[in-house]
Amino acid sequence: MPATRNSQLLPTRAKRESGKDAILHSMHTILARYQLSENVTKLDVLSPRIAQIRQPGQFVMIRLGVHSERIPLTIADADPRGGSISLVIQAVGKSTNELVALQPGQCIRDIAGPLGHPTELISAGHALCIGGGVGTAVAHPIAQGLHRRGAQVTSIIGGRSKSAVIFELELRRFGPVFVCTDDGSYGRTGLVTDAAREVLAAGKVDLVYAVGPVPMMRAVAELTREFKVRTIVSLNPIMVDGTGMCGGCRVSVGNETKFACVDGPEFDGHKVDFAELSDRLASYREFERHAAKCAHGHRRTKTTNEHK
Ligand code: FAD
Ligand code: FES
Ligand code: MG
Repeated sequence: MPATRNSQLLPTRAKRESGKDAILHSMHTILARYQLSENVTKLDVLSPRIAQIRQPGQFVMIRLGVHSERIPLTIADADPRGGSISLVIQAVGKSTNELVALQPGQCIRDIAGPLGHPTELISAGHALCIGGGVGTAVAHPIAQGLHRRGAQVTSIIGGRSKSAVIFELELRRFGPVFVCTDDGSYGRTGLVTDAAREVLAAGKVDLVYAVGPVPMMRAVAELTREFKVRTIVSLNPIMVDGTGMCGGCRVSVGNETKFACVDGPEFDGHKVDFAELSDRLASYREFERHAAKCAHGHRRTKTTNEHK
């Protein structure tokens, strides 16, 4: 097993008060790791209690090590029998890069959850699930939940190019899937909203779910307003504690202040103030760039030393 900065998190041998040696295992061992695309990784993580009770739309707060920040990640799937949950992570900065570097056998220190309200699922009628980028992994448990309840599910998923398209086969189990890529390397060329316009124009859609980058969710909400179809979006503001205490995830919905961690993360897309959400997401960019740069420097120094 490769040595990493997080090797402190591996099962450790410790002395109990009784004085006898004991093996202390962290609960959250990585059971499997899959590279879904160049910068998206799926980790199956041991977390039996959460695997039993999680519902579509819920997320967890992850803290990789003692000194790590907490970050929110959606529970993309779960195996209640095996006691594992699946996290699908796009490596964008310090914490996500550290997480995707984990290998099977290594551990995550804390996983708190399941958090947030479960998705409002319909059990009849036609639901359109739209996922952009890593948002497709978040759309997956929603489509799964809708299918289990008996709703008709159509999915539209998008990525920059073929290699960025994820969860296509998984979503096909629940109904037709339309794939869109920006460069036309797979599926149809164009944005998910182009395909969504056609599906909305072609027939009755009772509810739309949209998960992805803020501009995408905003564009979907503008489109569905035209068609007068109710639309649920999954918001991704900065979260610190995930329990309604810090105010970091404040969003404006229908001119009311909401906290996405306890009131959401899903809201009526026609009422969300997306401009404010974009602004707030960018608040700490300088700090994030600095943290990523320091982490990169640390990794390089370590690698160089390891080769000496
Ligand atoms: P940084 O360099 O610190 O930040 C990069 C960008 O990520 C920031 O500009 C900001 O827009 C966002 N971000 C940073 N810190 C946070 C934070 N504490 N909370 C939320 N956003 C942050 N990403 C996935 O890849 N997979 C998921 O399943 C997923 N589910 C999410 C569910 C919810 C409810 C929310 C709110 C976010 C989810 N995210 C998910 C986004 C993920 O939490 C951020 O990408 C991650 O925190 C970035 O951390 P970083 O240190 O690697 O990047
Ligand atoms: Fe602190 Fe929501 S993350 S209030
Ligand atoms: Mg960060």
